[in-house]
Amino acid sequence: MNFDKQALIEAARDAATRAYAPYSAFNVGAALAFADGSIVTGSNVENASYGLSLCAETVAVSKAMNDGVRGGLIAVAVTGPAVEPITPCGRCRQVLNELAALGDTDPLVLCVGSEEVRETQLSGLLPRAFGPASLT
Ligand code: THU
Repeated sequence: MNFDKQALIEAARDAATRAYAPYSAFNVGAALAFADGSIVTGSNVENASYGLSLCAETVAVSKAMNDGVRGGLIAVAVTGPAVEPITPCGRCRQVLNELAALGDTDPLVLCVGSEEVRETQLSGLLPRAFGPASLT
């Protein structure tokens, strides 16, 4: 696959430094790798109305989609401040699935903690996903 795992993790860690997380102080970074070699990053954006906060993965997917990207998602790295590797929340799994489904890919997800990286496919995190094809 056309991406460097360590570079993708570093991109996610770098994005986490720009998180707006004054309420949780839990800075999360996400980096999306695409088949053309490009990387799009995001970090969490919290809100004084806590429930309106946006996760890092959702911000990254929104940035990519808004730049016209419609598929080609081959890998995702998510970094958090905890020892335990962070896995995308349920909503983010669904949001990632939309972009993956548009290009018919099953991206590798690198869940990164301070001491360990856990690798899985998105399909393992969200089996039997509801996606664009489910509406046809
Ligand atoms: N968070 C993410 O950015 N991604 C996830 O997959 C899980 C949680 C954020 C949301 C909130 O700003 C903070 O982490 C604590 O839950």
